[in-house]
Amino acid sequence: MVKKIAVIGTGYVGIVSGAGISDFGNKVTCVDILEQKIQSLKNGIIPIYEPGLDEIVKRNVKANRLDFSIQVSETIQKSDIIFIAVGTPQAENGHADLSAIRAVSKTIGENLNRYKVICTKSTVPIGTGENIIKWIKRSMKNKIEFDYVSNPEFLREGSAVKDFLLPDRVVIGANNDRAFKLMKDVYRPLYINETPMLHTNVITAEMIKYASNSFLALKISYINEVANLCDIVGADIHQVTKGMGKDGRISPKFLHPGPGFGGSCFPKDLNAFSIFSKDNGVELRTIEAAILTNLQQKIKMTNKMETLVGGSFKNKKIAVLGLAFKSNTDDVRESPAITMIQTIIDNGGFVNAFDPIANRTMKKIFPDIDYYTTWEDACKNADAVAIMTEWNEFRGMDLLLLKSLLKSAVVLDTRNILNPKTLLELNFNFDNVGRKVI
Ligand code: UDX
Repeated sequence: MVKKIAVIGTGYVGIVSGAGISDFGNKVTCVDILEQKIQSLKNGIIPIYEPGLDEIVKRNVKANRLDFSIQVSETIQKSDIIFIAVGTPQAENGHADLSAIRAVSKTIGENLNRYKVICTKSTVPIGTGENIIKWIKRSMKNKIEFDYVSNPEFLREGSAVKDFLLPDRVVIGANNDRAFKLMKDVYRPLYINETPMLHTNVITAEMIKYASNSFLALKISYINEVANLCDIVGADIHQVTKGMGKDGRISPKFLHPGPGFGGSCFPKDLNAFSIFSKDNGVELRTIEAAILTNLQQKIKMTNKMETLVGGSFKNKKIAVLGLAFKSNTDDVRESPAITMIQTIIDNGGFVNAFDPIANRTMKKIFPDIDYYTTWEDACKNADAVAIMTEWNEFRGMDLLLLKSLLKSAVVLDTRNILNPKTLLELNFNFDNVGRKVI
């Protein structure tokens, strides 16, 4: 029988998960308390930029497997499985703000009318599952049986649809077989394709999410430090990572040096993991080092830029190309471009900003800098250019044209996407991350 599924929260995780689960053949209703958002979704307007999401939503709405509603209570009552996908932002004290999770748990409890599986997709602090169970039980009118499951997401912005439909693994933290089997059925097409399905208990699933993200962030901070060392001794970080990545135990993934990681997950998750461990009397020193290294990496990029423009940003106009925290997204949260822009402005310089899609989002943080609609316009008469995001259109930029547009031929390539030999041949004064040509 086709399962009826509710996804509560139509943010990034909610929409992608709802669309993906419906694509697996389930009947999904995505709910939110924001009426305007639901109305837009009903009209086919997706509030976030995510390649392929538009298409998968349209396809499943048309097939009657996916719809949107503001009727939270009603949707809970008619569903067999309820996914919680509301936001868990970082509060002032570094702890996750669980007020939305708490409110949703209460609504679920109030509307439990028969056995259901309640499953959390949002990233919640380790141990939250126990609290959610308590909050649901506390608001239940009659004693009704339910199972709680932790099913963390491992979606990357920019490739979230692909990540959802073709995951490396699905982690299902369920404390009994009944709930595990029901969840396995939600992911039936993946199960048939032999995608690994890991059945753990709830707390272990919660731990897997933090341990995975923290490990990836650790890898990036590590390689950034090695790249900085390469800078000093004249080794080529790309050859170093190639050599390292051939070792199957290391793998070449997440070994790309850059201006430091950003986004909505890594910085927040690392902080939460570190605080959680301290609260439990354990110090994760490697994670703390990764956090610190990342902050320093962002600052290091601004120092490199300052050095390239002669030691001071005063009255210098810098073209900042790429504002998003990585390519294929309009998300600027914790983006290294923010540190770069802030430092330039604070030190008396000016910024010409350009991003293929993130100008709009960055305008909310820096409304007073100049934004351009092409990289060529942003570079006109600038004293230097800083490439902050690895957009394909920067990889292929005509360097002779770039040189003719700039007031002086100065480039900081924080993503190592330009060929250093060509920059050298064209007499650019340039720097990158661990690829000095000696
Ligand atoms: C991440 C995780 O990958 C995902 O599993 C989790 O669910 C959410 O957080 P996301 O934040 O979308 O996804 O981006 P990701 O592609 O992982 O990149 C994170 C940051 O690391 C970006 O700033 C990126 O530029 C940087 N990065 C990534 C590097 O600097 N080097 C690398 O080799 C890889």
